[in-house]
Amino acid sequence: MSRSLVGFVVVGLAALATSAVAVDWPNKIPTNADRGQQLYDRHCLACHGELGKGDGPLNASLVTPTPDLSKGFGGKPRDELVRIVMKGRGTMPGFEQSFRDLWPASGDLREYAKDVLDHMEHLEQRKKAAAPPKPDKPAKPEEEPAAEGN
Ligand code: HEC
Repeated sequence: MSRSLVGFVVVGLAALATSAVAVDWPNKIPTNADRGQQLYDRHCLACHGELGKGDGPLNASLVTPTPDLSKGFGGKPRDELVRIVMKGRGTMPGFEQSFRDLWPASGDLREYAKDVLDHMEHLEQRKKAAAPPKPDKPAKPEEEPAAEGN
């Protein structure tokens, strides 16, 4: 009796664990790819654009337009790119402090620059992979505020 109860609990826990995998970041432990994506969407998308073409909405207000990097970084050494992301260059701000603010307890902040650069290099693949045919999946359940009395 109690043995089957234990079995029940174990199965229940397993089901919980499985469903937890489907929960969106940041409720699960982020992988490097998760982190790269999160950082890109938060800090880079506005200028570099969805596919890295340099066509993000913020470009309308930039003096120097964002370059098209959708074909890669022209063979620039990773270290140099990491430094650009950390310290900024020209119109592009540096992100060292933002990374620190996001994950204060972490070690080498350059790892974040690497994650986001890696994400940036695979925007097209990741976009395709992340976008299975979506019929009518509500992006955000828009809850109509209940009509107030009267
Ligand atoms: C305000 C707009 C803006 C934002 C935000 C921005 N960038 Fe940039 N980025 C630029 C511009 C403009 C350049 C060209 C800089 C220059 O050479 O003067 C650039 C250049 C780069 C380069 C250099 C490519 C090369 O070959 O030299 C990399 C890599 C890059 N950005 C990555 C990122 C990443 C990663 C983020 C987010 C963490 C980011 N950028 C956020 C505007 C932006």
